Amino acid sequence: MSSCNGFEVPRHVAIIMDGNGRWAKARRLPRSEGHRRGFEAARRVVEAASELGIGYLTLYAFSVENWARPSWEVRALMEMLEEFLRSHRSELVEKNIRLEAIGRLTDLPPAVRRELEETREATSKSTGLTVVLALSYGGRVEIVEAARSLAVEIEAGMLRAEEIDETLFRQKLYTAGYPDPDLLIRTSGEKRISNFLLWQIAYTELYVSPTLWPDFGPEEFLAALQDYAQRQRRFGRVLQNG
Ligand code: IPE
Ligand code: IPE
Ligand code: MG
Repeated sequence: MSSCNGFEVPRHVAIIMDGNGRWAKARRLPRSEGHRRGFEAARRVVEAASELGIGYLTLYAFSVENWARPSWEVRALMEMLEEFLRSHRSELVEKNIRLEAIGRLTDLPPAVRRELEETREATSKSTGLTVVLALSYGGRVEIVEAARSLAVEIEAGMLRAEEIDETLFRQKLYTAGYPDPDLLIRTSGEKRISNFLLWQIAYTELYVSPTLWPDFGPEEFLAALQDYAQRQRRFGRVLQNG
């Protein structure tokens, strides 16, 4: 945790960026316009997180379930993602931000995978904020893949079942090496997790904002962080002075 503006800043913030479609609908615009504005909102929040000294920012950009949306919407999102990565690469490097991705990345169109790989490579030496994009991400499939990978090691005689514990299990998740989120923000008022980071959010503090993602800005991000700073995290224990 680092201290900023007089309050403790969480080490890892995760965001379910929701409400692009409703934002567009309210303005009689195509859903793709909502997504375009959503990317701009993501850029502003990444910048704010970087300036505030946050260590990790995980952004839920596309779920495994989102593939079932109309093909034109999926295509528009993938094209925007590709363009976003290409056009912001040098800015990320300049700002000392590292970009990573989690999810079933092999599901992504080759052009997106290429841009992702190049951005990962270009920013790999950054020591500031790590932005983790969750793409074709599903919490359940992540857990299933981890279980399968352990089973393969057992079959190969490399591991015994008794050796499996939480520490080993989490090393098999896409998020191996990242701390669990301290704070999870969901925009657009929906009070659900939608298959995001199921294992990792066991003790994460939740913050639901009614704001639709394209309207979410640095001020509201700061408000969420300030709200978090007031929370008392107990992790199931009784605190001495609590
Ligand atoms: C979030 O906005 C972006 C993605 C899921 C890709 P939505 O597209 O889900 O917007 P709503 O929920 O329909 O308003
Ligand atoms: C969650 O939003 C996924 C992302 C923000 C990428 P959805 O809009 O897909 O979730 P539901 O359908 O409201 O649960
Ligand atoms: Mg939604």
